[in-house]
Amino acid sequence: MRRVGSPNASVIADTVALNDAVEVDFDATERILEEISTTAVVQTPAPLARMVNMTTSNEQLVEALRPVEDPELHRSIVDLGMLKRAELRDDGTADILVALTIAGCPLRNEIQQRVNGAVATLPGVTGVALEFTVMTDEERAALREVLHGSPAGTAGQQQAHGHAEGRAIPFSEPGSTTRPLLISSGKGGVGKSSITTNLAVALARLGHTVGVVDADIYGFSIPRMLGTDRQPTVVDEMILPPERWGVRCISMGYFVPDGEAVIWRGPMLHKALEQFLTDVFWDAPDFLLIDMPPGTGDIALSLSQYLPRGEVYVVTTPQPAAQKVARLSAAMAEKVNLPVRGVIENMSWFTGDDGTRYELFGAGGGQELSEELEVPLLGQLPLVPALREGGDDGQPITAVDGDSEAAQAFMTIAERIAVDLRPRKVFSPELRIVD
Ligand SMILES: Nc1ncnc2c1ncn2[C@@H]1O[C@H](COP(=O)(O)OP(=O)(O)OP(=O)(O)O)[C@@H](O)[C@H]1O
Ligand SMILES: [Mg+2]
Repeated sequence: MRRVGSPNASVIADTVALNDAVEVDFDATERILEEISTTAVVQTPAPLARMVNMTTSNEQLVEALRPVEDPELHRSIVDLGMLKRAELRDDGTADILVALTIAGCPLRNEIQQRVNGAVATLPGVTGVALEFTVMTDEERAALREVLHGSPAGTAGQQQAHGHAEGRAIPFSEPGSTTRPLLISSGKGGVGKSSITTNLAVALARLGHTVGVVDADIYGFSIPRMLGTDRQPTVVDEMILPPERWGVRCISMGYFVPDGEAVIWRGPMLHKALEQFLTDVFWDAPDFLLIDMPPGTGDIALSLSQYLPRGEVYVVTTPQPAAQKVARLSAAMAEKVNLPVRGVIENMSWFTGDDGTRYELFGAGGGQELSEELEVPLLGQLPLVPALREGGDDGQPITAVDGDSEAAQAFMTIAERIAVDLRPRKVFSPELRIVD
């Protein structure tokens, strides 16, 4: 273990000294820094605490660590059983051992920062010695059982398709509070994925918990648009979805090597979707957005079975041709018994440098479709290069340029979906108050 006054600085100095007169070995520096992040002692000035002779008991140390959440599971590391040791040594060092869910956990540094932040300023604590270990298989199985039930169990009333004994799809359970939003259109390239991404970010910005399922198994695009920078973590058959901008996401993109195409037969597509809904630890988000593939095919049919309370939002561009195709997806929704709740018009206009709006794809398509379907037109999104660029670079405009016209439009649509279209409580005339 190394004791470092100001983290890293003295170690870099050591390394430079070691390599005195020769070239600085940057690899070694990096290795040492890596080592520090495994076992580090951070000096914390606490003169005031010492002067008044205040100190922290081991129980208080644990309580101070209770609000620290695992960044993937969003639960307290204490409640999850990840905190293996928390003791205050005589010299004031907080001696802490945390068990990570998996070896090489991508969020180890984040956990380290959170732990240090939680205890470093406690009275009597002069430093934090944080060590990491990894959960055993048994501990992982127990964790999964608590959070996600058993993969083989009959957890609910509606078994997943083809699995008489399998885990239920949580969103089809009667008590589910998640609103599945299916973003669809009969036509390709109208902006479904861009809208799914930005709407998800907008809902997260409004304070909701949000997940996205990229149901476009062949033409996945959400990981790139959202800019998730890592793969899902798997803890004993439970898949923890990557998260970015407050949005969790699962996509076939995480399971296919870069540049390779998915060539699968129909039943496998259904199986993949089913796994996205059952094996992923979604943790009952407020909203689960589904980026639908183009067309009206099979996937919509499966999803309607998996998500009987799904709400369909139809995306169209303003020209009559697009609107005709968009109508097909509304017809499909009706066939599979899912309600269309609203229309979103994309690429409505382009604003020139002089402020003039150019309606490049015509006008009125969204309005007409919404009248025909008798649902509201929730918003019109401008055509802006920054929206496309943000999609290409994983920097959704709603996350990185909240004041822009497009981001504002997404925020308004999100608010209308969250507030105006929230499901009403059903009044049942049979229920009476009995004195
Ligand atoms: N309002 C907009 N302004 C500028 N570019 C946009 C806008 N909406 C979408 N785009 C761009 O148009 C292209 C198609 O959009 P997107 O991929 O979101 O459509 P899609 O309906 O999901 O397509 P697919 O049917 O292929 O899945 C993307 O390059 C996207 O960045
Ligand atoms: Mg798409």
